[in-house]
Amino acid sequence: MSDREIASAVLGCVGGAANVVANSLCMTRLRITVANPMAINRISLDLVDGVLGTATRGTNGVEVVFGPKAVRGIFNEFSRLTGVSGDVDPQAGVRTHRSNLHVHISPGRRKSYVAQADAHEERTAKAASADDTLDLTRLLEDDIEDEVDEPEAEKPARRLLVINGPNLNMLGIREPALYGKEDYAALLELCKEAAKNAGFVDCRCFQSNHEGAIVDEIQDAFGIFDGLVINPGAYTHTSVAILDAVKAIGIPTIEVHISKVEEREDFRQVSYIRQACLETITGLGIEGYRVAINHMAEHLGL
Ligand code: DQA
Repeated sequence: MSDREIASAVLGCVGGAANVVANSLCMTRLRITVANPMAINRISLDLVDGVLGTATRGTNGVEVVFGPKAVRGIFNEFSRLTGVSGDVDPQAGVRTHRSNLHVHISPGRRKSYVAQADAHEERTAKAASADDTLDLTRLLEDDIEDEVDEPEAEKPARRLLVINGPNLNMLGIREPALYGKEDYAALLELCKEAAKNAGFVDCRCFQSNHEGAIVDEIQDAFGIFDGLVINPGAYTHTSVAILDAVKAIGIPTIEVHISKVEEREDFRQVSYIRQACLETITGLGIEGYRVAINHMAEHLGL
């Protein structure tokens, strides 16, 4: 993809030019401030060509990491497309909280970052030495590290929704060899406690045996909740409607399964919801929810 195409894809993921209030360039990333943060689709942003990671920036912003070589051209095109002058960082001098700067970079993307660095060096006819690659990787790390030293500011108020699908209300009774002896009340307690410890201001837990009720609950989360942890139970393997609902609201979502589904029957090997999820956690019993909640908190900058 060209710089222009990448900039245009990024713009699409942050609600279009009308939503962009300001943008600025830092060593490795675009910093975008928007009018309506609900229009930012972090999942789609993560999938844009060349994006190495994303980070929440304050209450109305997002950072999109491209790496030091690629970011300049994309920034220029982004400024052209938005018509917003990119020279002034509206938050310059305003230090953000360290937790807001946690950049979600998947291991796969880190590898691709190093590969991109290599390719760039080759293109410029200077064979990439191992040191060059290392330096570039370090540069990205340094950029993050630099900002991590900034003084603390207010933590963002983040709300978590936990959804459990059919038969998860039967925990403790239902096939304890597979799903454990702890009941649904224990799961609720665990989620509330984990969410509080992770810094969420609110944690709503919802369970239903009905697909439509789960779709309704997901739709209602739009504009209210910042993260979703979901175990759709058997609907994992059948429900396009639940997948579509999660995609529609576009909030970061993590899939959890109590059992190790990957080692079970063939029909459990399909997960529709997975394509809309940041991550899938399986086989950790109800403790998997705690892991998911902590990962979500990290993803949201708590
Ligand atoms: C489950 C796995 C599903 O296959 C099953 O239908 C469930 C629970 C789990 O948590 O392991 O209901 O999602």
